Amino acid sequence: MAKITKKKSNRGTANPNIRKGLVGVIADATAVSKVMPETNSLTYRGYAVQDLAAKCSFEEVAYLLLNGNLPNRKQLNTFKKKERSLRRITSAHTQVIAKFPKKAHPMDTIRTAVSYLGTSEVAWGNEAAEVDMERAINMLAKIPTMIATDFRYRNSKKRIAPRSDLTLTENFFHMCFGKVPPKAVVKAFDISLILYAEHSFNASTFTGRVIASTRSDIYSAIVGGIGALKGPLHGGANEAVMDMMKEIGTPERADTWIRGAMKDRKLIMGFGHRVYKQGDSRVPTMKSCLEDLTKWSGDTKWLDIYNILTNIFINEKGIYPNLDFPSGPAYYLMGFPVNLYTPIFVMSRITGWSAHYMEQNANNALIRPLSAYSGKAQRKVSSITERK
Ligand code: COA
Repeated sequence: MAKITKKKSNRGTANPNIRKGLVGVIADATAVSKVMPETNSLTYRGYAVQDLAAKCSFEEVAYLLLNGNLPNRKQLNTFKKKERSLRRITSAHTQVIAKFPKKAHPMDTIRTAVSYLGTSEVAWGNEAAEVDMERAINMLAKIPTMIATDFRYRNSKKRIAPRSDLTLTENFFHMCFGKVPPKAVVKAFDISLILYAEHSFNASTFTGRVIASTRSDIYSAIVGGIGALKGPLHGGANEAVMDMMKEIGTPERADTWIRGAMKDRKLIMGFGHRVYKQGDSRVPTMKSCLEDLTKWSGDTKWLDIYNILTNIFINEKGIYPNLDFPSGPAYYLMGFPVNLYTPIFVMSRITGWSAHYMEQNANNALIRPLSAYSGKAQRKVSSITERK
């Protein structure tokens, strides 16, 4: 991950109508999720995300986001059966993934692999809802296979075919490492996918909705969403957090490091949020997973660094950690390489993105804001001989 420096804010503008970064702008209504910064809470389709994490599997939450209600047993079984039947990718697709340059970031390869999937049919927007639902489940099922295939190839290993007797989470571990870890690790990963699944009009979802609003197809919207998610101010932060923790190296260095970073006005990855200003609703649940993983692995270093950084940064700056802060070290303890953390986010957010795509499609208005011109005043075109 490239070094991220804090850019000087330049929010002020002579034009009072400009809302730089669309701060505070309500662009549309959504029934998919509700972010409530005043109570540090988040609901998916009306259910508190903590309750979903405690009582549901990622597949149940995926169903909820896509369909609007939690599934009964029969609906869940049908949904799971369908997802499991779609996990395999074609050998042509596998060969495309095998040809990706090894130095490419896995976010670039998953972006390209999803785009390739979109060429498998003549895909247009404005389709019947059932067609988009079919495509959404197809991506939900195949994205883990694409990520794991790329992971195996870039490590010069044979790909491992998906298994249909495993849950989505178990199967991902199986395809990456050839084995499924203990239940506690699988559960922590499943919870991370639930927490990452949806978050209203965040940058990548909004990107997808803009693309949907032009009546483009769902694959194009998801590819756009992946591009937006890659940035370190958004999903890429979970990788940047771990890079930062590795740079700090030991809990003994954490205090001096964070004070130095504050003095140098550095951007501390995994802290701050555009909407939550008093804490991210998802952090306590993910922190508890990090604690479980720390106990399981016996590696206490990352949790110690986590606690030192959060205590100092909250006390000194009043800026709280976001979900990427506990999930970075949690994925590390699960054994994933750092450059797989944001692709894992894609595996999960495909559910929220797809739900938003369908919502936008069902009640569409082209998203096209205005801009205030700040360039040269109108001038004459001179002939080339007159130009200096
Ligand atoms: N480290 C250091 N300072 C931070 C900070 C961080 N992680 N997050 C916010 N701040 C500072 C800002 O620089 C700003 O200070 P200034 O007024 O002196 O310039 C102030 O806090 C207010 O933040 P603001 O820039 O208004 O927040 P935003 O809504 O534009 O940005 C983020 C939100 C997420 C982009 C920002 O907090 C950030 O870059 N965080 C790090 C990346 C990250 O973890 N992203 C994942 C988000 S889920």
